Amino acid sequence: MNTLIIIKPWAVQRGLVGEILARFERHGIRIAAVKAVLLSKDKAEKLYAVHEGKPFFKDVVGHMTSTPIVAAVLETDMLDDEAAVALVRKIVGVTDPTKAEMGTIRGDFGMRKDRNIIHASDSPESAEYEIPLFFTKNDIVSYVKQVI
Ligand code: CMP
Repeated sequence: MNTLIIIKPWAVQRGLVGEILARFERHGIRIAAVKAVLLSKDKAEKLYAVHEGKPFFKDVVGHMTSTPIVAAVLETDMLDDEAAVALVRKIVGVTDPTKAEMGTIRGDFGMRKDRNIIHASDSPESAEYEIPLFFTKNDIVSYVKQVI
């Protein structure tokens, strides 16, 4: 199962990319694709389409397009799809860093809900929608041995 994370502008600027990716790797979650991107307004609006019309929509799009982000596809083949997304989101922590547990990425490095350091797909369906915004099938490797 593949899911998407995005290391947001403030974390990239603070040099936290390696630290954040390492947290997933330490759980046995593998990096199937990774790249630095300066996100276009169009892509950011597509990424956050479910939030269109909400008071923070314009601000989050502005923030996410301000300076580079790092997007990564994570592969977890040891768990079913729902559990894989749940584990990634547990490592990430809840949306508001003031409420996120210490030991989670947002709890350890975040401060503001609207600048919460990292995005993670919230369901297998969201991952299916979000991954192609950043990566083609050819960009993504698999560590799972496939028997033909
Ligand atoms: P993310 O997981 O990237 O998904 C939507 C983003 O909008 C969220 O993290 C926050 O960075 C931002 N945001 C700002 N205000 C809110 C809010 N009140 N509720 C949810 N998300 C918010």
